[in-house]
Amino acid sequence: MTQAQDQLKQDSAEAALKYVLAKTSYDAIVGIGTGSTVNYFIDALAASKNRIGGTVASSEASAQRLRGHGIEVFDLNEVDEVAIYVDGADEINPRLEMIKGGGGALTREKIIAAVAREFVCIADGSKWVDHLGRFPLPVEVIPMARGYVWRQLLKLGARPVWREGVITDNGNIIIDAHDFYPIGSARTMEEQINNIVGVVTNGLFALRPADLLLLARDGSVEPVVAKTT
Ligand code: A5P
Repeated sequence: MTQAQDQLKQDSAEAALKYVLAKTSYDAIVGIGTGSTVNYFIDALAASKNRIGGTVASSEASAQRLRGHGIEVFDLNEVDEVAIYVDGADEINPRLEMIKGGGGALTREKIIAAVAREFVCIADGSKWVDHLGRFPLPVEVIPMARGYVWRQLLKLGARPVWREGVITDNGNIIIDAHDFYPIGSARTMEEQINNIVGVVTNGLFALRPADLLLLARDGSVEPVVAKTT
């Protein structure tokens, strides 16, 4: 990753913090994603930690970073609602559908995204694509179903690659499904792969896309809302 790309991630994260503080009340619970872009958000949030009610985290890594800054992290079952969820993406298209899970946290990310009233995606320009699928699609799988899910993904036209040595926070494995590009209907594919027995979830976020993208490129941060056609 270049220094310039790092700066863009930080720009997007800082724009998200301003947005979150402007939109939330003092008791709001903020959902926190996972990854290098979100790490900038967590670090920026530290100075405003008393301005929110607390956080819920989509991974053990993010929870640890939040606690390291003295930011309160709740279990999702302890909170009634999540006002806003801030997370990165591996790819995002003009409908604000995403591929996520490059960091392996896709299932908890999808759970918090489902609960949150609003989903704000933070990304640098390298994540913006016309069609999803160049980034291999992560699929979280119950370990005993690995061979079965593998064969089903092959039937769907993918080239599955086991992310060897990686165990998710939920104790499962990840299979990365290559060669799906270009994905036509991301919603249909999300449902199709989730319907394979043994799949916990897949990294397509199309049934619940982002509501707002803060896209950092060329030194500025552009707010992008979903194109519906
Ligand atoms: C984590 O599981 C992913 O969904 C991340 O949101 C995604 O990989 C983006 O990470 P970076 O901000 O590090 O690119």
